Amino acid sequence: MGKALDGVKILDMTHVQSGPSCTQILAWLGADVLKLEAPSGDITRRQLRDVPDADSLYFTMLNSNKKSITLNLKEERGKEIFVDLVKRSDVLVENFGPGTIERLGFTWEKLNALNPKLIFASIKGFGEGPYTNFKAYEVVAQAMGGSMATTGFEDGPPTATGAQIGDSGTGIHTVAAILAALYQRTETGRGQRVAVAMQHSVLNLCRVKLRDQQRLATGPLTEYPNEDFGDDVPRSGNASGGGQPGWAVKCAPGGPNDYVYVIIQPQGWAPITRLMGLPELAEDPEWSTPEARLNKLAKVFQLVEEWTSQHGKWEVLAKLNAENVPCGPILSTGELIEDESLVSNEMIVTVDHPVRGPFKTVGCPLKLSDSPVDVERSPLLGEHNDEIYRQVLGLPEDELVSLKANGVI
Ligand SMILES: CC(C)(COP(=O)(O)OP(=O)(O)OC[C@H]1O[C@@H](n2cnc3c(N)ncnc32)[C@H](O)[C@@H]1OP(=O)(O)O)[C@@H](O)C(=O)NCCC(=O)NCCS
Repeated sequence: MGKALDGVKILDMTHVQSGPSCTQILAWLGADVLKLEAPSGDITRRQLRDVPDADSLYFTMLNSNKKSITLNLKEERGKEIFVDLVKRSDVLVENFGPGTIERLGFTWEKLNALNPKLIFASIKGFGEGPYTNFKAYEVVAQAMGGSMATTGFEDGPPTATGAQIGDSGTGIHTVAAILAALYQRTETGRGQRVAVAMQHSVLNLCRVKLRDQQRLATGPLTEYPNEDFGDDVPRSGNASGGGQPGWAVKCAPGGPNDYVYVIIQPQGWAPITRLMGLPELAEDPEWSTPEARLNKLAKVFQLVEEWTSQHGKWEVLAKLNAENVPCGPILSTGELIEDESLVSNEMIVTVDHPVRGPFKTVGCPLKLSDSPVDVERSPLLGEHNDEIYRQVLGLPEDELVSLKANGVI
């Protein structure tokens, strides 16, 4: 079966996580993704290695379904070859530090002149302004995009979230931008400049916290568990952040992830009171309505926890779902990687690799009925040099030998 992005040629100069997470999704959607690396390779091939001399899981889990070529863009011949590749590409994606690609001689104006149909997408830490020239990593974006200030408990420090919202979150925003630019090109015939900043992506994901920032002007945020409100939205622990109260309550046997997150919708209260063995609270006006419970949510969840702590999280999940109460057991990473439903949904996928052997990776969360995803292994460094330079660009064999000897590829 064909794929949604069949025939779309992506020249992928990304590294680390934000950029590779974007181009991996594009590859899964069927684009032809050619990863161009300096002859030394994407630094993550060697970072956090678990198997000696094999590409790390950091690399293999973010670069599947791509081809790899090496090319030294600091060499004149390297720049000439790059120009040929740009002319053949639909999209160029990079996430170098600020000014890096321009220092290599490739401004948007130059790339646009070389190939007016090219979509040139860049991920940077920040937009235009005082931070433009700053480098950024995941937690820097979380710090400056609103996530750290609003994550954690009121009496604790700002906290980073485990979800890589600054990196992979920005990657998926960039996927959306590139697809929109490809679609617009079908009308205009022109490429365009696409810029996505990690700070902006995190801020977009923190949208509801900026909603609450403005609500502070009219008084305390009544659904928050906090008692004191200052000028800024406080950290609110495990409060749900939506209109319905929720909290993570302990389960048996009391391990670090033996918790269930429970949300109490108005209609969920009566069944919860029955499960807790306190059915009278369903009728008691002190407890029966969301408004009556609002000023004693800590006590509400303490009662819920007295019940849940006598049961395992899977049992609590079954009992609450039997009553249509939204809830989620806290699944540990060990549980997730073995989860049969995630395996059958191809969200945990085993891939073979010629150097490191089989490993598990996370599959594609986008499920398209006409564009199924086959997760394939990441390429070895320069694995496709011969195919691209000889067969596609038509470089003669003797030149390839000298390019290699001179460190150009
Ligand atoms: C991640 C980041 C902080 C890393 O910074 P860094 O290690 O200094 O790496 P850079 O991206 O600036 O590039 C490093 C060098 O490799 C060189 N390089 C990259 N590809 C090359 C190639 N094919 N051939 C020759 N040189 C190459 C660059 O020219 C640059 O050299 P320079 O320092 O002499 O200009 C930075 O890339 C960044 O801020 N990126 C944008 C935000 C981002 O994506 N952050 C990471 C999220 S996971």
